[in-house]
Amino acid sequence: MIKVSPDIAGIIPYPPGKPMEELERELGIKGSIKLASNENPLGPSPKAVAAIRKGLEKIQRYPDGAGYYLREALAEKWKVEPSQVIIGNGSNEIIELLVRTFILPGDEAIMADPSFSLYPLVVTTGHGKPVQIPLKEGRHDLAQMAKAITPKTKLIFVCNPNNPTGTMVDKREVARFLLRVPKRILVIFDEAYAEYATDPDFPQTIDSLREGASVIFLRTFSKIYGLAGLRIGYGISRPEVIDYMNRVRQPFNTNLPAQQGALAALSDEAHVSKSLRINQEGKEFLCRQFDEMGLSYFRSETNFIYFNLNGSEPALGKKVFTALLHKGVIIRHLEGRHLRVTIGLPKENRRFIQSLKEVLSLK
Ligand SMILES: Cc1ncc(COP(=O)(O)O)c(C=O)c1O
Repeated sequence: MIKVSPDIAGIIPYPPGKPMEELERELGIKGSIKLASNENPLGPSPKAVAAIRKGLEKIQRYPDGAGYYLREALAEKWKVEPSQVIIGNGSNEIIELLVRTFILPGDEAIMADPSFSLYPLVVTTGHGKPVQIPLKEGRHDLAQMAKAITPKTKLIFVCNPNNPTGTMVDKREVARFLLRVPKRILVIFDEAYAEYATDPDFPQTIDSLREGASVIFLRTFSKIYGLAGLRIGYGISRPEVIDYMNRVRQPFNTNLPAQQGALAALSDEAHVSKSLRINQEGKEFLCRQFDEMGLSYFRSETNFIYFNLNGSEPALGKKVFTALLHKGVIIRHLEGRHLRVTIGLPKENRRFIQSLKEVLSLK
């Protein structure tokens, strides 16, 4: 039998979700709605779709491995050099590249818990050690994260706003934190949902980068830009950090339609504004409904809400999740009585609330 490292043998496989069509067939339902993966319910920009179609006509060619035009456009947007931009097959790939580039066996990576589940997985498969620091009242506990730094710490993940809680740490907290982090450590700000954050105190990581902090920030086209199925995201940092990552990445890591779709999506500011407006209205509606139902939730700076069911029965979350599933409303169960719902279109939000009320009154 082929041998595998104990780090990999010890991983619990991620349970793959079923395609919606398959789930509907199994449950004998139709017209279900998916509010589980924080995608944009409006869909992609029509301009992006047109650009993707155009890209398909040249699909016999390998893509531009350096992503020249997209990197130029991103450099222009952020007022940095193209050498400071890396694009990836989703920001997930950039997270993986960071670990493969910088983690040596036994190095530590500090992260919050709960946070994006990919971080501990990627660090473990990269033979590093995830150091998980519990959230404090649903938010990153940056003071404890700074205290957890050891000579072995190489990376620190700050998911801002955080998935799954939707909460953020603000610019003053981040500035204080960065003062405590030695320059030999790279701080990764995963800002997959930053375009949804409306709090004026949301940190501008680009400013920390300009001031010389050892940081990279990651953005994605999977969320507000509505291109999750294309798989494209990017990171911005100091040129030497990007240079090392470029040595590790596959030469053609992002595909041609994705590069062209992303470029078009970036220029369609009206679609982004509309997506943000619909999200804000949906968030206000859902929060009002949760208030009326007496359910607690964390204040969200994202396109999803983490909420709690009342009562002492720890299995309630799973039960409610399953009952909603049978009504064709797919959300995410986290643990115990905690659930996460993606903010959808108005009629999806109404259907979710109606179904939740029905399910809870059955208790
Ligand atoms: C916090 C966070 N980072 C990164 C990603 C991955 O994004 P991408 O689709 O760009 O790989 C997600 C996706 O859900 C996320 O929640």
